[in-house]
Amino acid sequence: MQVFIDDRTFSQQAQQLAIDLALPRLSDGGFQVQEDALLSWSAPKKSTHLHLALLPPDSGPLSIDFFGGKKAHRRQFGGGKGQPLVRAMGHLTDRMPTIFDATAGMGGDAFVLASLGFTVWMNERNPVVAALLQDALQRAKVSQERSEIDVQSAQIISRLSFSQGDSVQIIRELAAQGTHFDTIYLDPMYPHKKKSAATKKEMATLQKLLGADIDSALLLENALQHAKYRVVVKRPKGAEPIAYAIKPSSAIESPNTRYDVYSIKALTTG
Ligand SMILES: C[S@@+](CC[C@H](N)C(=O)[O-])C[C@H]1O[C@@H](n2cnc3c(N)ncnc32)[C@H](O)[C@@H]1O
Repeated sequence: MQVFIDDRTFSQQAQQLAIDLALPRLSDGGFQVQEDALLSWSAPKKSTHLHLALLPPDSGPLSIDFFGGKKAHRRQFGGGKGQPLVRAMGHLTDRMPTIFDATAGMGGDAFVLASLGFTVWMNERNPVVAALLQDALQRAKVSQERSEIDVQSAQIISRLSFSQGDSVQIIRELAAQGTHFDTIYLDPMYPHKKKSAATKKEMATLQKLLGADIDSALLLENALQHAKYRVVVKRPKGAEPIAYAIKPSSAIESPNTRYDVYSIKALTTG
């Protein structure tokens, strides 16, 4: 699936995004309706902001909205601090752990964690997914500046940062600059089964766009070298831990998911 930038309406933004992502514009030609996807802007009703969305050939648009849809639902009904994802992040005696989300994707997990008080740095390597995430964060920050969102939502957004690139590289660069995270979180792509139709479609599109993350062991190795407190890896229930010399110190289970926890203290004390 090739991604094209839609430059029919917002041509200036399209030109810039085409340069940033090194992707062709629709007007460059070669777009195949049955096979290719479009990155396109729209201005939804009731919103003064443009939204960037990926329009795949065979399913509905994919975009990120921190304060609507699935994310709002998960924030409200996800289970708060008791949910396995949150428990897996651990707790320090004097403060909440800082988190590096090395596989940010659509930002779902990062947003849940930020909404429960964690400071989260999200990093995503795929340029198209990163563009969607950056668009959502930018939109939310503008809403924050214009006081269009409530204080609690504004605080959540101020706890989120974003970068684009390979996390192996970014973690090393940040560490070299003196930025170390307490917890590094990994949620690499794996085949999804038995999901709701909507999730299935979103996952199918993402899988077409991204493929499987076959280099997770390298990311885990790097995370273990740089996390101060722990590394957490999300796996499907029943799957093996990421194949690596070091085994998880513990695991936290939920009905479909397992969080493998690698405690740094356990590594250093043997
Ligand atoms: C399953 S998705 C993550 C979903 C995310 N936890 C959420 O809640 O939306 C995995 C994402 O990790 C990204 N990824 C995998 N390995 C990466 C790496 N080494 N550096 C940066 N991103 C990576 C993939 O491009 C993909 O977007």
